[in-house]
Amino acid sequence: MKQLAVHYLPKLVSEHELTGATVVVIDLLRASTTICTALANGASEVRPFLEVADTLQAAEGLDRATLLLGGERGGRLIPGFDLGNSPAEYTSDRVCGKPILFSTTNGTRALQHARLAKRAIVGAIVNLSAVVDAVRNDPQVHILCAGTGGEITREDVLAAGAVASRLTTAPNGWRLTEPATSARKQWVELEAAAQTAGRSLSEHLAEELRRTPGGENLLAIGHDQDLRLCAQIDSLSVVPNFSPATGRITLP
Ligand code: MLT
Repeated sequence: MKQLAVHYLPKLVSEHELTGATVVVIDLLRASTTICTALANGASEVRPFLEVADTLQAAEGLDRATLLLGGERGGRLIPGFDLGNSPAEYTSDRVCGKPILFSTTNGTRALQHARLAKRAIVGAIVNLSAVVDAVRNDPQVHILCAGTGGEITREDVLAAGAVASRLTTAPNGWRLTEPATSARKQWVELEAAAQTAGRSLSEHLAEELRRTPGGENLLAIGHDQDLRLCAQIDSLSVVPNFSPATGRITLP
């Protein structure tokens, strides 16, 4: 039987427990969504860095006209960087053909936590069906939520629940861990609430995100629009793949 685990925070699973598995890394607001958007819009690769200093150092000596630095601290543009962490900034005009050196507070850390995985992919709501299709036949799937500042965030749990729900709709031989079952239940409840409210699921999710920790942080700094972008179910069909060996996230 195939196994599906959801980890609400990186610290709730050791790197070694992820060895050899498929890991879907989710930082819904906003790193995962932004990485998907950048690659869908033609960025040649995204290179995640833990620290701002490492990102700047990697860019030293390179022709800055040929690459972009992107990411955030406190949700805001990092001094000296070209782009923040809003998916809206990663248009094809801006990113097509360019590598992006990228550092965010929680998302890039969660990616590093998956460095022993056999396959590490970036999951979000914008690429929900693409991710589900990509991992459907893998025997051991872990969904790793980034959280915010070491705390569990409902937005990541909902996105994990969406993957869990879509993956296990048919009785197709998945064993779920308790957190996976709970995340799936939260997503199914959201679906039911959207129906009761007579709203599309994307619309309802965007509304729900306003009341999540990550959503509240973004509202506080004026990024309301990003909640809508990050809630667009299946607006993209990319499956970004992180190779720890090369330190690059690319499309297959
Ligand atoms: C992160 O990686 O911490 C987030 O993506 C923060 C943000 O939304 O800017």
